[in-house]
Amino acid sequence: MINQTFETLLSKVDDEGICVLTINRPEKLNALNNQVFMDLELALSKISNDESIKLLVITGAQNKAFVAGADIKEFSEFDSEKARNLSSRGQQVFQKIEDLNKPVIAAINGFALGGGCELAMACHLRVASTNARLGLPEVSLGLIPGYGGTQRLIQLIGRAKALELTLSGRFITAQEAYQIGLINHMGESAMDEAMKLAKLIVKQAPLALKNVILAINSSDSIHGYQNEAKLFGELFETEDFKEGTSAFFEKRKPVFSGK
Ligand code: COA
Repeated sequence: MINQTFETLLSKVDDEGICVLTINRPEKLNALNNQVFMDLELALSKISNDESIKLLVITGAQNKAFVAGADIKEFSEFDSEKARNLSSRGQQVFQKIEDLNKPVIAAINGFALGGGCELAMACHLRVASTNARLGLPEVSLGLIPGYGGTQRLIQLIGRAKALELTLSGRFITAQEAYQIGLINHMGESAMDEAMKLAKLIVKQAPLALKNVILAINSSDSIHGYQNEAKLFGELFETEDFKEGTSAFFEKRKPVFSGK
């Protein structure tokens, strides 16, 4: 059993072996800082090795956000090298989710933006509450998605829609996310939807579930992720990035110079 206490995560396992991990920084809309990544990494290895856990559900604390992105405050002073490392690390942790030996469902209970949307995309299945809003608004900060989002978005919704969402940075409703195939199901409560799906899946053969995941994941290529980390890192030395992050904290609209 996963009986560890985490600084930024809550964990609970029910008697059917369904583990719920809740990202717990509600005062920052569950934004992903270094501690969340450390906690997630540790939790994932424990869950992976724990045979009593059959399936993982990931959600966000309280009902405003699943995860509102990477922690902008934490990386606002990074240079290219640090940013590239941050991107590679984020990609690695999210890859652990995608490669987990048991199914993972994202229960999207509010905003799933930037790194939050990327986290949801790394899960095998996504369900959302009707009030959820999803998006990849990195361009509004002078950035691009850096935790695998540029690659997974294409896989999930195709190039045309992936380009539209990443170029415009616009937020979409759960309804639109459902229509374009970004989420599997939606309902009043993301957690209720996740549990309905989880209860169907945990009845199935664990080794078959594991091999379905291995087979489906084996179609991915590694090159796109490396390139994403490089391009993400480069942007940290631009004026637009400084302007985008300053504008966010000053609660004003950014004025970009293209430098
Ligand atoms: N990183 C760090 N802090 C964040 C954050 C993030 N990604 N998202 C939200 N927060 C913080 C805010 O700074 C604020 O903190 P404060 O109370 O100390 O000022 C708190 O969470 C609440 O957010 P706030 O912006 O006041 O809520 P809102 O209801 O006005 O807006 C959002 C909600 C989600 C639209 C808005 O927070 C937002 O746009 N967040 C950033 C989304 C983003 O660009 N993500 C991609 C990052 S790569």
